[in-house]
Amino acid sequence: MPIVTCIEDLRLLAKQRVPRMFYDYADSGSWTESTYRANNTEFAPIKFRQRVAVDMSNRTLATEMIGQPVAMPVALAPTGLTGMQHADGEILAARAAEKFGVPFTLSTMSICSIEDVEAHTTKPFWFQLYVMKDRDFIARLIERARAANCSALVLTLDLQVLGQRHKDIRNGLSAPPKLTLPNIVNMATKPRWCMGMLGTKRRYFGNIVGHAPKVADMSSLSSWTANQFDLTLSWKDVEWIKKLWGGKLIIKGIMDVEDARLARDSGADALIVSNHGGRQLDGAQTSIAALPAIVEAVGDGIEVHMDGGIRSGQDIIKAVALGAKGVYIGRPFLYGLGAMGEAGVTKCLEILQKELDLTMAFCGLRDIRDVDRRILLPGTFPTA
Ligand code: FNR
Repeated sequence: MPIVTCIEDLRLLAKQRVPRMFYDYADSGSWTESTYRANNTEFAPIKFRQRVAVDMSNRTLATEMIGQPVAMPVALAPTGLTGMQHADGEILAARAAEKFGVPFTLSTMSICSIEDVEAHTTKPFWFQLYVMKDRDFIARLIERARAANCSALVLTLDLQVLGQRHKDIRNGLSAPPKLTLPNIVNMATKPRWCMGMLGTKRRYFGNIVGHAPKVADMSSLSSWTANQFDLTLSWKDVEWIKKLWGGKLIIKGIMDVEDARLARDSGADALIVSNHGGRQLDGAQTSIAALPAIVEAVGDGIEVHMDGGIRSGQDIIKAVALGAKGVYIGRPFLYGLGAMGEAGVTKCLEILQKELDLTMAFCGLRDIRDVDRRILLPGTFPTA
């Protein structure tokens, strides 16, 4: 058993175990990948104030996101094709998250369906929705999420058009994988992954195939999907979806203060400061840099969450100090999943929890709810 002590260890292990097509899909950004890289590197210049000789006993990371209790202020981000990092990936990740006490968000573009995940978990999960042109299909997806007892809808607004990812094009990314000679040769070097895939029937987009009109198989799926993302999406659609859903609503993909105010005015429960992990607009500001101005712009009118570049507990506490009520992790849990399945996702959460807890102690605090920018060294963090 390899020794795993940090998220980077999980990444290296996943790189060995997951076919290149799917590893690259996770570990890449759009165009030059500058925003993807900077999302993480811009955490480093932010410095802590280390405190000593203060009571560090009885520490707690427990808090709430959108009024729901969480063991720490972290949720699993929606990620498409998760079931291709590891067979039944969404089910395994959802199980690890529920045992840990943090929310799991199922992507519209998942391999396992809403019903698959519901059947294999015992607590409510969150469902992420892309706005497709086919409004009847959206309405049915919302109905299915409600029937599966999902406790929040995460509405992603930053994917009307798709940021180009060079690696996906070169690798001929598809689900199930295109069996070109290089892909077959590469897969042959990943026996665990292959065994897992042979043992499951979940290899397609479970929320779509068999549910969307005329999408019975993979060949009809890709052309349907390519045409479905809605170029005319507007805040009117958000209003319609909010009404239709009627439950907790989180708006994902906000990077601008004006959009943040519109999200607040839409009556959503939370917004996520997110550039889609650097997968959409390359050259966009990093999430951690955008966070303080958005927190200031919306005041108490809406809960602010963030994602992008979180790779350690130190990154989490910095985001919380700058006003995020919670953060989401995408690639870190995907690395865990690719490396070791459910145990790898648990390991990822354990690593982050330990780093977060110890960092909070070093900063002289015992309760995550007391964390604010006073733990940061003035002049080292972004401001509004
Ligand atoms: C994503 N992301 C994403 N977001 C979304 O709303 N729906 C989706 O289906 C996907 N799919 C997806 C696939 C993969 C492989 C990745 C890496 C990301 C974006 C995701 O929810 C989140 O915003 C970022 O992953 C956060 O950045 P980090 O934590 O990966 O750095």
